[in-house]
Amino acid sequence: MSDRRRLRIISACAALCVALGAGAVSAQKFAGLAATPPLGWNSWNHFGCNVSEETLKSAADQIVSNGMKAAGYQYVVVDDCWQGSRDKDGNIGADPKRFPNGMKAVADYVHSKGLKFGIYSDAGWKTCGGRPASRGYEFQDALTYARWGVDYLKYDWCNTEGLNAEGAYQTMRDALFAAKRPIVFSVCEWGTAKPWLWGKDVGHLWRTAGDVHDCFDCVVDHGTWKSWGVLQILDMQEGLRAHAGPDHWNDPDMLEVGNGMSTAEDRAHFSLWAMLAAPLIAGNDLSRMRPATREILTNSEVIAVDQDRLGVQGFRAYKLGNVDVWAKALSAGGVAVTFLNRGTTTASMRYNWGTHRIEDLASKTDFDFAKKTYQVRNLWTHRALGSTKTDLLLNIGAHDVVMLKLNP
Ligand code: GAL
Repeated sequence: MSDRRRLRIISACAALCVALGAGAVSAQKFAGLAATPPLGWNSWNHFGCNVSEETLKSAADQIVSNGMKAAGYQYVVVDDCWQGSRDKDGNIGADPKRFPNGMKAVADYVHSKGLKFGIYSDAGWKTCGGRPASRGYEFQDALTYARWGVDYLKYDWCNTEGLNAEGAYQTMRDALFAAKRPIVFSVCEWGTAKPWLWGKDVGHLWRTAGDVHDCFDCVVDHGTWKSWGVLQILDMQEGLRAHAGPDHWNDPDMLEVGNGMSTAEDRAHFSLWAMLAAPLIAGNDLSRMRPATREILTNSEVIAVDQDRLGVQGFRAYKLGNVDVWAKALSAGGVAVTFLNRGTTTASMRYNWGTHRIEDLASKTDFDFAKKTYQVRNLWTHRALGSTKTDLLLNIGAHDVVMLKLNP
């Protein structure tokens, strides 16, 4: 073989290696965007398809003025139905009636408030609301979102017949990475293809269940699909916590706090989602929020449990009749303990810490209260409750919680 020919072969091979290498580089998510579970607000649970520029701007205003921003809420996310049609080149545009100034104007407004902007699309041909989705347009849509200044993408799973979930979400992950703007990727596949098994390298959070419904203990049958109450979704989380951690969270769906449940139920819902290290994405009408709802959504001690940097999802340690005892190991050797009354009448009990050791296999911590004493603090009354040396006297209202933090 002539030297020239050999050189040509070597350089062709080098070009191929660079191309393959570039491929490997793009096959990743933007790491580090969700060291703790995302906190934000999304339009769907209250507004459904009825969204507009005004809805989003007003939500951003409220998050700043009602203390949610100070409490850590960051993302303002428009869900389904913002889309209009694609132009002749295939570029997606906003619904001109609802968003007359386009989505970049909304993103700019949200950014001007010191918040981040999230958007919604779907891996199929159409979104669940029948709008144009991203199938076949993934790289083009990702570039559009990057140009608009999007910081978060919720990517749904309607109208995806014949598609492989892991592959479809990988395609969008790669498209986002290629568009070069760090965008949190929220996998909304409802848990059907077990995204907890492959989601870590694909997104920052993934839905583990179907849609939440605004009720504490119910199942709503819509014919071809069902939506679920807080308790139903809670029970579906069993066995999933080993898959979650910093930058890759199980998502039991967004919050229904302030959308119609009782204050006790809202408090329990919020506490349990914090115990699950779940993304806390509010979904109520912030312009008409009752003080009790605001108090729940901005309880910084409960939010701190959710956001604890150890990033270990909590678990049900005991089931005592109608009362679940949930535990979540925290950094600095502490543990959050939440007593949930699943029943519809008040539950009263005397709880002895010493006989209820909590062994957390995920964080490899053993809370043996017979051997070590912890100081107890109630995260809803914001009061100290003595130590684990004395029995706890509990009166937990129907569908309510007592949420505690134990410090060594
Ligand atoms: C569902 C999704 C909901 C909401 C809705 C919009 O599939 O789980 O959270 O996004 O679609 O149509």
